[in-house]
Amino acid sequence: MHGEAEQTAAGALVPPKSSSESLANPFLTGGTGLHDHSDRDPFGRSAGLWAGVSGLVLALVLGVALVALNPAITNGKAGGTPNQLGQPAAAAAGPAVEPGTPAFDGAQLIPTKQCPSCHTIPGIQGATGTVGPNLAGVASRSKIAGGAVDNKGPDDIKGWILDPPSKKPGTAMPKIGLSDDEATKIAAYLETLK
Ligand code: HEC
Repeated sequence: MHGEAEQTAAGALVPPKSSSESLANPFLTGGTGLHDHSDRDPFGRSAGLWAGVSGLVLALVLGVALVALNPAITNGKAGGTPNQLGQPAAAAAGPAVEPGTPAFDGAQLIPTKQCPSCHTIPGIQGATGTVGPNLAGVASRSKIAGGAVDNKGPDDIKGWILDPPSKKPGTAMPKIGLSDDEATKIAAYLETLK
């Protein structure tokens, strides 16, 4: 049963308006001859406008927040994921040498000699040379210089670095001109490279 009273309770149907009145209402579409149903609408006439504006504001606030809260903005670096391979090479991390020991002094001396330009040496900053062998693990080799020279301890390494050509004629490693004390300390450091 759809009586007149029921319809009135749900919202009155407004009779057609004059054409000028309808055109003045921007929310009414469908022509001037139609009944105005807007009183029965579940949402107000400006609900769409407000939804749109709210959406824009929300998007703007979210965007600003995401940029402002990104740690990369404050520290100037992209965050990224941690390097799962860890440090690139054991070469970067050298043996722990105690300050005051000959090995420590040797590590200080090596960069002042030409060794880093020819050798990669663990624990020595910038020692990435590839002319001579990588000195990682040199203390564990029983022979050095391509097998020509025995390596039974610090004295053998010391003798080698003091005067390579006297141990192996024609070697590509030149005599650096180290003092006995310098050679002792450098050999002590090389002995830590097991
Ligand atoms: C001009 C390049 C050059 C320089 C500078 C140089 N070396 Fe060498 N070094 C070599 C070459 C080449 C070999 C290999 C020699 C061979 O097998 O005949 C070598 C071999 C060695 C070896 C033996 C390694 C092995 O496993 O056979 C040690 C130890 C060594 N050098 C230490 C040093 C130290 C310490 C210094 C600095 C005081 C130094 N070298 C400077 C070129 C160089």
